[in-house]
Amino acid sequence: MTRRIFIAGNWKMNLTLSASLELAEGLKKAAAGISNADIAVCPPAVYVQAVAAVLKGTAVGVGAQNVYFEKEGAFTGEISANMLKDIGCRYVILGHSERRNILGESSEQVNLKVKAALAAGLVPIVCVGELLKEREAGTTEDVVRRQFDGSFSGIAAKEMENCVIAYEPVWAIGTGKVATPEQAEEVHAAIRKMIEKNYSKEVAEKVRIQYGGSVNDKNAAEILAKPNVDGALVGGASLKVEPFLGILKSA
Ligand code: PGA
Repeated sequence: MTRRIFIAGNWKMNLTLSASLELAEGLKKAAAGISNADIAVCPPAVYVQAVAAVLKGTAVGVGAQNVYFEKEGAFTGEISANMLKDIGCRYVILGHSERRNILGESSEQVNLKVKAALAAGLVPIVCVGELLKEREAGTTEDVVRRQFDGSFSGIAAKEMENCVIAYEPVWAIGTGKVATPEQAEEVHAAIRKMIEKNYSKEVAEKVRIQYGGSVNDKNAAEILAKPNVDGALVGGASLKVEPFLGILKSA
């Protein structure tokens, strides 16, 4: 079973409109020759539409960094999955550790968002990962299993196949302290076992599991070489064309 590599850039709360458009234009040119991997960028919500317009018809898909789970109505400040779809999104990052830890998002909320995203035809990129103290306490797999079970509760096998999981150890995000390829592979293999247990071997073989946390053009190749690592979710190194493209090339 060969899973297609998927590299996604998470721009977080960075860039201006003009810098976003410039980056999108750069990626449009640079990504023209790349056909061996799926590529996406996830700009801040206010720039998604403009970036999607630049990247329309290219190999670079566009995603959002969050969504609200209700369809429509009196939810001041929120954005629905249908709205994201409407402005050209294909993906949505859900349950990022910054949302879980800074904004108090629970796996139950992530689960509602996964369901809303799937119902709207978006591909959810669901993030899981342990804190440093949890890794040091030897509870990484328990933490990830709880997040996995909670986030995907009630998701049918056919829908699960469409989901992407991003394993992002929190201690590696934005710290320059990337997990070793072995550390990543160990958790990725454990996540694939969780999919197999809750669904089937067939589903487990189809789901793509990205690694995220200080990935750059220097360290990507050896992480992506691991059998259960199917791509990367990239923060800092996705804010400029060259490093992001370097990661794509390592794939
Ligand atoms: P980083 O962020 O690459 O800057 O560590 C990754 C992420 O949070 O998705």
